[in-house]
Amino acid sequence: MDYLITGGSGFIGRHILKQLGGAAIVDIVKSSDPNVREQANVDIASESSLEEIERISKGKQAIFHLAANPEVRVGDPNVHISVGLVGTYHVLEAARKADVPNFVFASSSTVYGDAALTPTPEDYPLAPISTYGAMKVASEALISAYASYYGIKAVSLRLANVVGGDAPRGVLHDFIGKLRSNPNELEVLGDGTQTKSYFHVDDCARGFVMALNWGKKGKNTAYNLGAVDAIDVISIAKITIEEMGLNPSQVQIRTTGGLDGRGWMGDVKYAWLSIEKAKRDGWIPTIKTSEEAVRKAVREILELGA
Ligand SMILES: NC(=O)c1ccc[n+]([C@@H]2O[C@H](COP(=O)([O-])OP(=O)(O)OC[C@H]3O[C@@H](n4cnc5c(N)ncnc54)[C@H](O)[C@@H]3O)[C@@H](O)[C@H]2O)c1
Repeated sequence: MDYLITGGSGFIGRHILKQLGGAAIVDIVKSSDPNVREQANVDIASESSLEEIERISKGKQAIFHLAANPEVRVGDPNVHISVGLVGTYHVLEAARKADVPNFVFASSSTVYGDAALTPTPEDYPLAPISTYGAMKVASEALISAYASYYGIKAVSLRLANVVGGDAPRGVLHDFIGKLRSNPNELEVLGDGTQTKSYFHVDDCARGFVMALNWGKKGKNTAYNLGAVDAIDVISIAKITIEEMGLNPSQVQIRTTGGLDGRGWMGDVKYAWLSIEKAKRDGWIPTIKTSEEAVRKAVREILELGA
């Protein structure tokens, strides 16, 4: 089977590529991964990229669409609308013109905003509190229309926080970097009680591959993917301190207080997804808890010397 991954040079995309054993990619960044069979290095936000995405989509069984700016913290709506939403429109146009029957989209837990119910199931109302989350909701809606018009089988995977040794950014990198420059103090954004679900990139990539067997033709079906639980930021700070071999009694954890206790504007304070639906369809994280996933990722980052 032939596949296309947009964002295939990125963190999650590279792991999907590996699990598929090879695919074509679309990414603004050139990849030297030996699993890349063909690549188009274009900006999906630009209309001029359409022809190239359509060309590379021809004959593919599925498109895994991940290209986006993954930073919730970027409050500028233009970033998320241009690459996230307009980019998704261009990739959908290419899928339609090239007759690609399957579409798997990297959505996010942020679509639910400050959900009052946790673990949050897929049928909970979508009320994002960031432009990033709004872009994911809008993209899911567009995918739904394309699926219905053109008989595409689409699956939107609403991902919790994905961690792993080769992640280019995120809370673990932030903490490790800060502790390296000052091993006696760790600044934590927000009030430290923000609690979220973290799962490992290998489990995430496996979910993308399994999603090829989920959903229905003509529909965009949502699935949550994450750990079985959630963990607060202070606990993540303590795990990082421990794994770095520092003496916890000698590291002062200092919280910034933040906006209403949040790390930044648009930060969801409590995000824990129900993964029952994915479990019923055979997916379960092999690294089950958020603590295990965080600990493993910290070790991997330290091993890689990143
Ligand atoms: N990492 C997470 O915790 C997480 C959680 C929820 C959802 N997601 C979503 O998963 C997807 C992948 O995230 P990631 O963590 O691998 O991020 P990443 O930044 O490592 O990968 C994104 C890739 O998209 C490419 N890209 C960005 N803008 C582009 C453009 N205009 N044209 C072509 N390519 C472009 C980048 O070059 C990069 O290779 C994103 O859509 C993100 O929103 C990630």
